[in-house]
Amino acid sequence: MSLRNSYRVFNCLKSFGSLSSRLNPEKFFITKAPLKYVTTMPSSQVNSHNVFSLSCLNEENFKEIEKKVTFKALKIPTGSLQSLLKGGIKRRAYKRKKFNFVRTGEGNNVHYILLDPEEAEHFENWKECPLLTSNNVQKELVDYEVTLKYEDFDADEILRAILPAEVEVPTAFSRIGHIAHLNLRDEQIPYKNIIGEVMLDKIHGITTVVNKTNEICNQFRVFNMEVIAGENSFITTVREHHCQFELDFSKVYWNPRLSTEHERIVKKVSCGVLFDVFAGIGPFAIPAAKKGCQVYANDLNPDSFKWLQQNRKINKVKDKIECYMMDGRQFITNIVKEKMVNFASQEEDRPMRVHVVMNLPASAVEFLDAFRGLFTGTLPEGDENVPAMSVHCYCFTKKEGAEDDACQMVKHHLGCSNLHLDVHNVRNVAPNKEMMCVSFQMPKETLWEAKEEEHDGQKRGCDSPETSHTSKKPKLEDEVSHVS
Ligand SMILES: C[S@@+](CC[C@H](N)C(=O)[O-])C[C@H]1O[C@@H](n2cnc3c(N)ncnc32)[C@H](O)[C@@H]1O
Repeated sequence: MSLRNSYRVFNCLKSFGSLSSRLNPEKFFITKAPLKYVTTMPSSQVNSHNVFSLSCLNEENFKEIEKKVTFKALKIPTGSLQSLLKGGIKRRAYKRKKFNFVRTGEGNNVHYILLDPEEAEHFENWKECPLLTSNNVQKELVDYEVTLKYEDFDADEILRAILPAEVEVPTAFSRIGHIAHLNLRDEQIPYKNIIGEVMLDKIHGITTVVNKTNEICNQFRVFNMEVIAGENSFITTVREHHCQFELDFSKVYWNPRLSTEHERIVKKVSCGVLFDVFAGIGPFAIPAAKKGCQVYANDLNPDSFKWLQQNRKINKVKDKIECYMMDGRQFITNIVKEKMVNFASQEEDRPMRVHVVMNLPASAVEFLDAFRGLFTGTLPEGDENVPAMSVHCYCFTKKEGAEDDACQMVKHHLGCSNLHLDVHNVRNVAPNKEMMCVSFQMPKETLWEAKEEEHDGQKRGCDSPETSHTSKKPKLEDEVSHVS
């Protein structure tokens, strides 16, 4: 069967993206999410005419594609090329990334300038222009045939030509080092391998393509995923805010969409003290330490703990970060408390303010009650030597009334209705799911709350949280460890 015959008979008339280019990972176009984190499939078309639209391709031999495109071209003597280029002929040429609109003709004596089809159509209107006349350019256009191959098309174009018209080409993916992370829709799943294969071919630096298999529902917020193309390799390196992070994407949490949020919080923590209760592999902790902060970073996931230590090492901030592997509640009631008591007794260099970051949006608010009465009986009530404590606590809410919901949750779990809260919408996670960050100064009344007898794990006199405290018993208690 000839290659051309291998194209499906019907034509995908929709114009999609365009041709060319292996992707430069730094220069992808962006959908809703901020630049850098979410990349869209390549789309390099810059002309209004899509002369490269593809007929539907056969899944079996799509890589053997050959498409002949006939351009209208200006035939020019070689000696005139520079002058025409300087004179602005480019604006009439067919422009597309990595596509050369200047072609060399017979014996290097002539050049062809491939024209934008629209310009060619209106050639009569501009053929007498001074630029052409002064350069002795023929006033007749000629046909110039270009043969395009698989390498010339981008992922978007190839996939549009392979997938049935009713199946959308996946538009965005996350990039984690050499891994492209997709979240395919049900109707795209039957084509997952071909989608992965094309991405592997077309996206520079990607050697593994994975698809998210279900919502994150495990304790350590690790994505469940399936390799749909490339190597089964998950250990990778990413960069964020001048820091380098090594991680095993199959075992720890990493989300490039949080990059802006990491930066926002790190900016607030001006070379003071940071307690990171759910630190992951260190995207708050490492840059804060690099800025000169003293950091206490904790994560219950043994793999996060391992990579956190590794990242502390490779970013040369080992002396600035103490790492812990505890349940968040234990970290607050033991480590945060112990360090705060020490700060209060320090004669010199006592920090004025500490920051506490709690990025476990599914349940961080449920850990807030660990601060209630934290200093009661340990430090004199309202001790002025105790540094002020700014908390940044994350949560998920519905879209409607997101700010109010976030505030209510925090107040409820702190048992404190009179509290000034700053609420920041971090990102839209799903159609009706927002990730919010609530920042506030921990009230003294909370830290010195009277300890009443505990009943069923709840303090009497406090509001009772609606959801159960999954954090009350660390699942991996016996694995608690500390490295400084
Ligand atoms: C959403 S991730 C955030 C990680 C990191 N801070 C970031 O911004 O990428 C939440 C982290 O909390 C950890 N975690 C989950 N439950 C925990 C618990 N009970 N105590 C301490 N860490 C926990 C998970 O392992 C995960 O690394």
